[in-house]
Amino acid sequence: MLPGDGIGPEIVAETEKVLNRINEQFDLGLQFDHGLVGGAAIDETGEPLPGKTLERAKKSDAILLGAVGGPKWDNLEMAKRPEKGLLGLRSNLELFANLRPAILYPQLASASSLKPEVVSGLDIMIVRELTGGIYFGQPRGVRTLEGGELQGFNTYVYSESEVRRIGRVAFEAARQRDGKLCSVDKANVLEVTAMWREIMDDLAKDYPDVELSHMYVDNAAMQLVRAPKQFDVIVTGNMFGDILSDEAAMLTGSIGMLPSASLNSEKQGMYEPCHGSAPDIAGQGIANPLATILSGAMMLRYSLGEEKAAGAIEAAVSRVLDQGLRTADIMSDGMQQVSTREMGDAVLAAL
Ligand code: NAI
Ligand code: MG
Repeated sequence: MLPGDGIGPEIVAETEKVLNRINEQFDLGLQFDHGLVGGAAIDETGEPLPGKTLERAKKSDAILLGAVGGPKWDNLEMAKRPEKGLLGLRSNLELFANLRPAILYPQLASASSLKPEVVSGLDIMIVRELTGGIYFGQPRGVRTLEGGELQGFNTYVYSESEVRRIGRVAFEAARQRDGKLCSVDKANVLEVTAMWREIMDDLAKDYPDVELSHMYVDNAAMQLVRAPKQFDVIVTGNMFGDILSDEAAMLTGSIGMLPSASLNSEKQGMYEPCHGSAPDIAGQGIANPLATILSGAMMLRYSLGEEKAAGAIEAAVSRVLDQGLRTADIMSDGMQQVSTREMGDAVLAAL
């Protein structure tokens, strides 16, 4: 458990309550440990990712992270900022597969900016490669050409093994869902992604039960707002995935509801809400804990193999929404507004 800073400690506390209950109910034998990361770690030790935290993270089957970052630490140099804690965990644990579901709960249908008939029942998953591609390729930089003109450059590079391992995660995820996988690329322009497409086609031979399709990224961006329900699982590289996963998240309209998972090849994973540390509401007891609680459910499913326990948490969240309970961020007419803690208690009661 790495609560981090901002609203992190508040939402992780509620999630820990839920996981403790699930641990008892399903006799899972989970053991929890705690560590400092981000701003909380900087205040205590001067480092965003203390060695002790990294060591504990490495020894864990899974990590539940709240959020990090805030104006209090914005004056620090890049390498010492809270966000470095997150990046450090991702790279040290080789968390190359980022899974981000975008689910529109029927109870929150009015939160979407799309028409109900286009978006109701939406349940898609974006699988984004997280440790390669143009965000990490070398060489990179800005140089001054003869004559003084500046030139910026980045390198878009993927090796076959990197594509294969993210591809396998996506095929496996599709297999556990509706069996449809759409691989998104720019194969008409970029050689890297033409190779990506060939490798996905090759992998498909090992997954005859999954229906693979391909789509160019510009079309995918259009289709996500035109007819998002055509998708089940989308797999794509780091940069396209960064953009498309935020686009998909916003189709649901409620950032306080969206979980995420980042996995490595041992299925060890870091689980966190898609939102940040919300410094504007930190300490007020009004943050929505559901994205973090649902991240806990993903943790049970993807790192611990406890599908039934994961489903129980998701069902409990759905029941609480049915009861009309809402934190401020998802509040609407006729519903009952509750605090962070009351929302956590309601999920416990539903369990
Ligand atoms: P943010 O997601 O923290 O907040 C955006 C807006 O959504 C704010 O108005 C906030 O109050 C609201 N919000 C977010 N989560 C909520 C929740 N659970 N319940 C109710 N309302 C919620 O994004 P922002 O403001 O751009 O970033 C704030 C800080 O968080 C920055 O320092 C940023 O670097 C950091 N950040 C950290 C992330 C992480 O830890 N994974 C991810 C994104 C941002
Ligand atoms: Mg992003």
